[in-house]
Amino acid sequence: MQQTFNLRKFTPDDLQAVMQINRYCLPENYMDFFFMDLHQRFPETFIVAEENGKIVGYIMCRVEVGLASFGLGGLIRKGHVVSIAVLPQGRRKGVAQALMNRAMEGMRDYKAKLCYLEVRVTNDPGVALYKKLGFEVSKTIHGYYSDNEDAYVMTKKL
Ligand code: ACO
Ligand code: ZN
Repeated sequence: MQQTFNLRKFTPDDLQAVMQINRYCLPENYMDFFFMDLHQRFPETFIVAEENGKIVGYIMCRVEVGLASFGLGGLIRKGHVVSIAVLPQGRRKGVAQALMNRAMEGMRDYKAKLCYLEVRVTNDPGVALYKKLGFEVSKTIHGYYSDNEDAYVMTKKL
């Protein structure tokens, strides 16, 4: 199928649109300065998807230093997907998959060796998306979310 959307880096002019999508799609919401801080520190992994000139999805990430897994040894950089969402009218067209792939390229530019994220254990679309991209569940965090739901931590080598 013809791709109907395009990806580009987030710019500060996109802040309101992205915050609206975040509030509409997810219970985990953030203040404006949180979005701006991630954009300023990690511009290559804060990406928006546009369809007919309108933003329909975003991904924002940060790069952290932590203990390696997968036998990589020692301290490594890890790309952490902080938040990704696509408006209902933009779903099942490959937007999230494209956002993830673009953000993971940015993580590689930042020298990250793996990518990880937390997702609600009941979030079937999310878990299916990450599995399709080659992520595996590396652990379950009980009561991770403010409503006490559990999270899967899902990880993929970059
Ligand atoms: N049911 C089953 N599988 C799905 C679904 C679904 N509803 N949605 C996506 N997938 C899987 C499929 O394998 C799909 O491939 P296919 O369409 O060829 O079968 C693959 O993921 C890629 O789907 P995309 O079209 O790229 O995903 P989409 O653009 O629809 O966005 C997303 C998926 C982001 C999960 C969307 O449903 C959404 O915004 N949900 C609400 C917010 C959310 O849950 N965000 C993730 C929270 S976790 C985090 O932010 C780290
Ligand atoms: Zn997280």
